[in-house]
Amino acid sequence: MMKMLVKFMILVHGVSVLLLLSGLTVSAVSLNISPNFQQFFREASVSLSCVEDGQTVDGWTVKRTKGEKTEECRVDGSDFGSFNGFSCFISFLSQSDSTGYWCETSSGQKTEQINITVPDGTGGDQVILEIPALPVIIGSDVTLRCKKKDNNRFRAVFFKNGVNIGTGSEGELPLISVQQSDEGVYHCYIDEDKPTPQSRLRVREPPSASVVRLILHLVVFCPFFISTGLMVSICCSRKTGNRAVVSMEMSQRVTGGHGLDKDC
Ligand SMILES: *[C@@H]1O[C@H](CO)[C@@H](O)[C@H](O)[C@H]1NC(C)=O
Repeated sequence: MMKMLVKFMILVHGVSVLLLLSGLTVSAVSLNISPNFQQFFREASVSLSCVEDGQTVDGWTVKRTKGEKTEECRVDGSDFGSFNGFSCFISFLSQSDSTGYWCETSSGQKTEQINITVPDGTGGDQVILEIPALPVIIGSDVTLRCKKKDNNRFRAVFFKNGVNIGTGSEGELPLISVQQSDEGVYHCYIDEDKPTPQSRLRVREPPSASVVRLILHLVVFCPFFISTGLMVSICCSRKTGNRAVVSMEMSQRVTGGHGLDKDC
């Protein structure tokens, strides 16, 4: 009886430790980009980091595709940019930096990708669309900006999924209270210039993940603490050789059932 109980407790403990570990690693790590845009002028700089709840996380590396190959941002001997322990900094962006970037663990877990585009054209001929790289939360406001390198504001025409959606006299297109239907591929052009590259605006529900995670942690922590407590009490009692008391205690707790329920 006692042996079975101990085995059972060890099993519960093992399972809850596993759940605990998976609960902690079922995380919302994502690639953060600063400034939060997808298109950049040549020679601009950008900082990429792997974050969870706004904090940089260890064990994740910023990577990108280069043709068929995958490149890594490192402290030393980096394939691109330079990693300072927190973020990957790319200065003097060039067209060869136009590709998809993501974070990855050594076990191959990956975040969603962010596409960076540096348009061709030189000097003042460069035109970009400033559009957020990170998903926009439903209900928030965002302004898309059509920009020329020399930074003057021009009348710009905006397109969504190839359809003209309006003109911004100052090169701006405000999107007030963004809805799911605003998701799509955008580009713009200024007067006679050629159009900017196209970038996808992504839209997200407001985060509710924190509630889900809280519940997950409660569900997992409860059996963890109970089984830890019971195992410790079993061990302590064994050392003092007081088996009879333990088995009484245990059978009370188990048959009564209340001891377990109350804690949760
Ligand atoms: C990034 O680029 C890839 C390949 O061109 C494309 O499939 C993907 O949809 C793009 N993602 C975003 C968020 O624009």
